[in-house]
Amino acid sequence: MELYERMGGATAIRRLVEAFYPRVVAHPLLAPLFPEDIGPVMDKQEQFLTQFFGGPPRYTMEHGHPMMRARHLAFPITPARADAWLACMREALEDTVEEEALRDVLWERLRNTAYFFINREDEGSS
Ligand code: HEM
Repeated sequence: MELYERMGGATAIRRLVEAFYPRVVAHPLLAPLFPEDIGPVMDKQEQFLTQFFGGPPRYTMEHGHPMMRARHLAFPITPARADAWLACMREALEDTVEEEALRDVLWERLRNTAYFFINREDEGSS
């Protein structure tokens, strides 16, 4: 069974996204990168995570090839920001996914991806 189905499908992905973005926009390292109107970002993330976890290719159908690392190049993704993003995601998973073993698998996939998106050094390091 795909992770998407194990999580609980569309409803579970939406719940995860809704638990995640309030944390992102409240985080001092992350908030400045995001637009004031976070709704469209949430919708795209919902589409993307659906396919990322093995559900229907909703992101690709609407926006084309994800090229997600390339789409993030415009933003300074430092190691500290990747850790911040992941900390928000860890909490959102804890809030919305009951099964610990499943949470851990989802987490591993996201962790690898987030570190892959790092495209700048931390500010103040050389
Ligand atoms: C590593 C830390 C990360 C940071 C700091 C970050 C930050 C951002 C920012 C600033 C945007 C653009 C918001 C806008 O539209 O103006 C964005 C878009 C997006 N991010 Fe991330 N992101 C991170 C990791 C991830 C990961 C791991 C995923 C997926 C697993 C992801 C999925 C997305 C998606 C789907 C979008 C929307 C892309 C689009 O515009 O079509 N991000 N992210």
